[in-house]
Amino acid sequence: MNGKAHDASILNDAGSGEAGSWRSRDLAVLWHPCTQMREHPDTLPLLPIARGDGAWLVGHDGRRTLDAVSSWWTNLFGHAEPRIADAVARQAHTLEQVILAGCSHPPAVELAERLLAIAPREAGRDPLAKVFYADNGSAGVEAALKMAFHWFRNRGDEPRRTRFVSLHNGYHGETIGALSVGDIPLYRRVYAPLLLEPLFAPSPDAYAAREGQSAAACAEEAADALAHLLDEHPGEVCALILEPRVQCAGGMRMHDPVYLKRVRELCDVHGAFLIADEIAVGFGRTGTMFASEQSGIQPDLLCLSKGLTGGFLPLCAVLATQQIYDGFLDDSRERAFLHSHSYSGNPLACAAALASLDIFETDDVLARNRDTAAKMAGLAAPLADHRHVADVRQAGMIVAFELTRDGNKATPFEPSLRVGLHAYRAAVERGVLLRPLGDILYWMPPYCIDDEQLALLADTTRAAIDAATSGAAQA
Ligand SMILES: Cc1ncc(COP(=O)(O)O)c(C=O)c1O
Repeated sequence: MNGKAHDASILNDAGSGEAGSWRSRDLAVLWHPCTQMREHPDTLPLLPIARGDGAWLVGHDGRRTLDAVSSWWTNLFGHAEPRIADAVARQAHTLEQVILAGCSHPPAVELAERLLAIAPREAGRDPLAKVFYADNGSAGVEAALKMAFHWFRNRGDEPRRTRFVSLHNGYHGETIGALSVGDIPLYRRVYAPLLLEPLFAPSPDAYAAREGQSAAACAEEAADALAHLLDEHPGEVCALILEPRVQCAGGMRMHDPVYLKRVRELCDVHGAFLIADEIAVGFGRTGTMFASEQSGIQPDLLCLSKGLTGGFLPLCAVLATQQIYDGFLDDSRERAFLHSHSYSGNPLACAAALASLDIFETDDVLARNRDTAAKMAGLAAPLADHRHVADVRQAGMIVAFELTRDGNKATPFEPSLRVGLHAYRAAVERGVLLRPLGDILYWMPPYCIDDEQLALLADTTRAAIDAATSGAAQA
């Protein structure tokens, strides 16, 4: 139940009680990620969280807020999931951390074995065979990019293969390399002088399809454009990186699985590696364990993070083929992959990931998610008729709502109206943490979300859209 959720405004009691005290102490010392700090606390309420309980975030006053974004898409089975918490505690009493260069430990080995066993496979292609650990998503993307580049350096016969291809509207993280292959102007533009210059291919985004064009036709068209781009740069590309099925930070824009199938073929034809960034979409988010499965393909490098540990601890696993791994075996240390992070393969994080994989098996999570996704579809469908909703789209446990002035794609709201921000405030006030991407609201809840919470989510989304758009359409 939503407990004592709405007896006081979460926006207006910002300075009072224990929550108020944490808020002031926080703002005195913290610099928050991805935040214009000037907006705290007046424009953007800061939510002090005392604890988590399943899909709820619980404030110091007991107020419950539904975590509809799985805490930046990390949480899978709810906050403080006891089986993962116990596994981490047991591991903490056994071995909390050890250098992974030169040392080994059971959780790192077991996790690698289990990830390789469930990784996407494609008939006739050598399976993913090795696991390299980094300690967050961006770091894993950096590792994958460097591996692809370095592999060709080691081979030595194609010195011009130094470029990456990535997609318009893609996102792969915030470190310099990962930011380079991303295309979200808000994050990228200011750093452009520092960044690598990848070749950008059109996004297969189905929302951008022409009137009457199917998602599959739109994806085929984007693949044709990619083919043309690769033709124009023969022997220059070492790897292509993309987010299979959903460009998440780019607005939960979804594409037909045929695109990835075509990309796989094109990478093979052009001798470039395919890096699948499943950091956000892996571990059941889009309906299958990994989104690449929906295209029946296997990438050469697969980046997994976020849900990898059930949302408990930072960890990234980069899965690579034997061919890539073998390209670094040599007498020379320079030809080795010397990339490292202090916490690579941290035992606590690996233990959390193993416990998370156990839950997938014992709770038949993918089957439950299919039921939940069907319920989400049923609750989202009526919102398609809302006069400010231009699109409702879904991929498994992700549902997105595109808001525009009059429900047409061609009439976006003026960005200065900050419709998404108003929706955020209205939703938080009603006990739901939505975190819109611009004017796109989305649901990406923990998999444990129940019927009552789903109903709250749907009701709140409608109320937040109403509140955020009232007046804005005329402005
Ligand atoms: C697809 C994708 N790749 C990479 C990252 C970066 O991961 P991290 O935030 O752990 O650095 C993100 C984060 O949102 C992501 O969505």
